[in-house]
Amino acid sequence: MAKTIQAIRGMNDCAPTESPLWQWVEGKVRSVLANYGYSEARMPIVESTPLFARAIGEVTDVVSKEMYTFWDNDEQLTLRPEGTAGCVRAAIEHGWIYNNEQRLWYMGPMFRHERPQKGRYRQFHQAGVEVFGIPNPEIDAELIILTARLWKELGIEQHVSLQLNSIGSLEARQNYRSALVEFLQNHQDLMSDEEKDRLVKNPLRILDTKNQALQDVLNNAPKLLDYLDDESRTHFAQLCDLLDAMGIQYEVNPKLVRGLDYYNKTVFEWVTSALGAQGTVCGGGRYDGLVEQLGGHATQGVGFAMGLERLVLLVQEVNKDIPLQSAVDIYVVFAGEGTTLAAFQVAEKLRSELPHLRVMTHCSGGKFQKQFKRADKVGAKFAIVIGESEAQANQVVVKDLHSGAEQQTVANADLVAHLTQLL
Ligand code: HAM
Repeated sequence: MAKTIQAIRGMNDCAPTESPLWQWVEGKVRSVLANYGYSEARMPIVESTPLFARAIGEVTDVVSKEMYTFWDNDEQLTLRPEGTAGCVRAAIEHGWIYNNEQRLWYMGPMFRHERPQKGRYRQFHQAGVEVFGIPNPEIDAELIILTARLWKELGIEQHVSLQLNSIGSLEARQNYRSALVEFLQNHQDLMSDEEKDRLVKNPLRILDTKNQALQDVLNNAPKLLDYLDDESRTHFAQLCDLLDAMGIQYEVNPKLVRGLDYYNKTVFEWVTSALGAQGTVCGGGRYDGLVEQLGGHATQGVGFAMGLERLVLLVQEVNKDIPLQSAVDIYVVFAGEGTTLAAFQVAEKLRSELPHLRVMTHCSGGKFQKQFKRADKVGAKFAIVIGESEAQANQVVVKDLHSGAEQQTVANADLVAHLTQLL
């Protein structure tokens, strides 16, 4: 036998048995976003590499070590590691945000060359939202309220909590950065080589270190919130007031800085303890400078993205009563002279007149007994049986496969009405 070829590590197939749950989760995401009046944007999976380097930042983990980059003739391209950069690129390129507010969403695969483990993959899927042209904290609040509604719809609201912070303006962050570096310089003995490297290149990322000794020291470090500029401070206070008034619980986490460089003011993450180490199901924040940084007119931005694999895992873990529909309602079986055409015609008529039903026609021949086994296997609720005599008389036999109720012979002309009553 020829040697089989396997999927790439960290890039998963979705089995036909798993896809109904994925569709259910994605359906909830789509319907909540529609509910708030957001519009879908679709961007390519590949973009030119400098886009990500400029948007996300050269010294971030994502850009410095996790991107899938390749040469296409003399152009360097990258599989998108996240959706914000491409969305901002498209918004500028097509004038979506020129003198205009936009509330957009997207869904699709992202690629990061990380070490795979539960909840962390090399190809994963995000549903993301980007809002342009609104400076007010009301929109930050709306994004959080929207996600809170989605958690309720998914039945996971008891298992996620909100972490919130403000990282202020670029200038405030630079002042804070100097104070933090000065403080940490005396504690280099506790740092790994990677942390020492961060101290030079991206010191704020040291705040979310997993190194306990360093964490203890950081409790006495200068606090980012103390360095905030007045505008960011007011913005954050207004956001917190709104969330309080709307009954949304959160914890202000002064160490939350996020791993991408484009943020300012509000940053937030929804986290769960039910998934082990990869507990962040959704992260986002404001990025008021990014549009201009990528060559557009200065336009405020704010958004978030959630990891769909993590949401699906969490739903599987905590929500056991999802009404997933059976794959098939009606399975059409037939055997004998002239029955193939009759079966196809009946099935097509049902699909036209009862379009919400899932109707499957048996296509692999054999005796009725084998065909019924197949109907059971696909979980069909009813079988429609057509033998030679039924075909000749323009009728079918309807058999309830779940209740065992007595089968009934029904004229083709009455079949739609008959099934409407049954289903
Ligand atoms: P991020 O925090 O890098 O933010 O990713 C958002 C979410 O994607 C994470 O919270 C996590 O649920 C999921 N995720 C990230 N990496 C992986 C992975 N390797 N495997 C599985 N899931 C993963 C962003 O990407 C920003 N673009 C979000 C944003 C939009 N900020 C403003 N607008």
